[in-house]
Amino acid sequence: MINGARVPPDAIYLDYQATTPTDPRVVDAMMPYLVQRFGNPHSTSHAFGQEAADAVERAREQVAALIGAEAREIVFTSGATESNNLAIKGAVRFLKSRRSKLVTVATEHKCVLESCRTLVAEGCELTVLPVDRDGRLDLDRLAAAIDDRTALVSVMAVNNEIGVIQDLAAIGAIARAAGALFHTDAAQAFGKVPLDVTAQKIDLMSISGHKVYAPKGIGALYVRRRPRVRLEPLFSGGGQERGLRSGTLAPALIVALGAAAEIAGRERAAEADRLGGLAASFLDRLTEALEGVAVHGNRTDRIPGNLNVGFAGVSALALMAALPDLALSVGSACTSADVEPSYVLSALGLDDATAASAVRIGFGRFTTEAELLRAAGRMIAAVAGLRSAGLRPALEAAT
Ligand SMILES: Cc1ncc(COP(=O)(O)O)c(C=O)c1O
Repeated sequence: MINGARVPPDAIYLDYQATTPTDPRVVDAMMPYLVQRFGNPHSTSHAFGQEAADAVERAREQVAALIGAEAREIVFTSGATESNNLAIKGAVRFLKSRRSKLVTVATEHKCVLESCRTLVAEGCELTVLPVDRDGRLDLDRLAAAIDDRTALVSVMAVNNEIGVIQDLAAIGAIARAAGALFHTDAAQAFGKVPLDVTAQKIDLMSISGHKVYAPKGIGALYVRRRPRVRLEPLFSGGGQERGLRSGTLAPALIVALGAAAEIAGRERAAEADRLGGLAASFLDRLTEALEGVAVHGNRTDRIPGNLNVGFAGVSALALMAALPDLALSVGSACTSADVEPSYVLSALGLDDATAASAVRIGFGRFTTEAELLRAAGRMIAAVAGLRSAGLRPALEAAT
């Protein structure tokens, strides 16, 4: 249904975990591959195709460089959903006759959890590990859950709702020691936190373009070559991407992902410092003005551009309704129409009322200090207004 929605002129975008605007430098890099350099990268019998193929290979190098991989270990996909499906189903289906167990975590994205559940329907055994109150995985529990029948351990690098970073190097070491593959969904981590597939012993890594200032509809999967990780492909077709992902590649989108990776490589550290400062002063402003502000998820092991904040006694849905000019979210984008409390916050042990009061605030490269100042002011006024409106019926009942 088309409902004619219009973004209010003074709206402030605070939903960078749902998606990011495409960086204008990324747009500049990709545009020539739409009109002038439109060749099919698989039709290399002429220069049109070769030019597109070269651009794809350059982008493969740029993506690989950001995670310490080799270019030929990168498979382009349509996004992290596809990468997660290919990694999890592909790896486990290949190994299933020898190892048919898989281990994941309760706070993973739906596309990871559902991919695992599909494998359960195919006869695999799944362990879904809990997290602690901070959203972190207990490494002893992980080690206890893995044995010599475990094919794959899938743990996300950064959570999309609470921004919490998992200890990938420790998880990778545990999985490797048991002979299991380690897959990480790095949709929210790529370009935001340092990633190194060798140091962190990662065998498969999912990447999404639109979380890192490239357009929607492009992503990648890192697939380790030494020791070689074998996957059963999801698609039948022309055998592109080393037979792992058939279908004509999208050079313009791939060039965009490559450019986004290169920019992130150059600017990540400075950007993280700036965003960390913005997050701290935004939160200070809220806590100075309001009682009962809770931050969910670990306070230090988190990406700087995410805050998951609850205001005691205030429903997040009511708060968002009172703030149509702030783009906030509850839960993940895919489930924000749902009134069920977020399963991620429930996994932290929050009761339903606390989980239902939490909003996700995401900011990034194009967020300014002035915007956050205005956003904090609007939010403080809305919370105070909702709280006094909530108290009024109680006071009236008492008199
Ligand atoms: C952690 C995580 N995994 C996977 C995805 C899916 O990524 P994509 O939109 O590229 O399919 C998202 C996006 O919401 C995400 O945040």
